[in-house]
Amino acid sequence: MLLTQCITSARPLLLVGCGRMGTALARAWLRQGLDAQALHIVEPAGRPPIDEPFAHHAQIAGVPQDVRPRALVIAVKPQKITAVLEEVPRFAAAEPLLLSIAAGVTLKRLTGALPSAVRAMPNTPAAIGQGITAAVAAPETREEDRDLAAALMAATGDFLWLDDEALLDIVTAVSGSGPAYVYALTEAMAYAGKAQGLPMAIAERLARKTVIGAAALMAESGVPASVLREQVTSPGGTTAAALEILRGEDGLEELMMKAVAAATRRSRELDG
Ligand SMILES: NC(=O)c1ccc[n+]([C@@H]2O[C@H](COP(=O)([O-])OP(=O)(O)OC[C@H]3O[C@@H](n4cnc5c(N)ncnc54)[C@H](OP(=O)(O)O)[C@@H]3O)[C@@H](O)[C@H]2O)c1
Repeated sequence: MLLTQCITSARPLLLVGCGRMGTALARAWLRQGLDAQALHIVEPAGRPPIDEPFAHHAQIAGVPQDVRPRALVIAVKPQKITAVLEEVPRFAAAEPLLLSIAAGVTLKRLTGALPSAVRAMPNTPAAIGQGITAAVAAPETREEDRDLAAALMAATGDFLWLDDEALLDIVTAVSGSGPAYVYALTEAMAYAGKAQGLPMAIAERLARKTVIGAAALMAESGVPASVLREQVTSPGGTTAAALEILRGEDGLEELMMKAVAAATRRSRELDG
């Protein structure tokens, strides 16, 4: 396995920032067999809730000088990254991969700190190994570092490369923010059921399990969403009556176009 071959206690992985996404990543790597002795975590908010005996440092300055990381993974909020990028050149002699998942932090900024860099956009289902990550590598990124970055992110679910960094803003708007759209849909279904007369607790339970079940069926069957939709829809039936509204003018497609366009615009504004 590439991850366990490349990352060893002599050439460890340094995870900088271990909040929600960082914890999900660390747990995924350990699940894949990463030796906890090969994991150093920098997290000022205290020791992250991970059982295995990794090395914890409150700040980058606290990482011992003899630690020669094979990879640095940055998972701090974008507004905290400037300070981190100022500090990481101290590891330059070890020639590590620099992998960042911070939204809107460009490859230009990453390679200004360490040359072999990858910028990735995961999503929150990474926490249960069901995420999807799209990533882009800087031209100067070494081949073996691209492979390692892919292995690190694939530990949390699906992974794909992009050739064009500009596409990452759209990825952010589709899959990065996407889980929130599904939760919003679940909430809207529950409220609509309540509005028609169901007790709220029952409407919530029906909506939640419907979204979970429909997603699981899509995953297990491998059938495209459009075909699954058609399978539920008999002409003149109840689903058809609803879809006439949902797929009509100013319907869900129109709304989703606007929503994804707004998120893409916001991601472009945050770039830099
Ligand atoms: N959540 C998502 O859906 C999602 C999806 C894709 C990408 N991302 C990206 O993932 C990154 C992390 O997001 P998150 O939701 O996991 O944020 P988070 O829960 O706030 O975690 C970030 C952690 O980094 C710590 N930190 C701050 N400054 C640090 C420093 N100098 N050195 C080391 N650690 C430091 C923070 O500690 P303090 O709280 O003490 O500051 C915090 O515990 C963001 O850049 C975000 O754009 C998130």
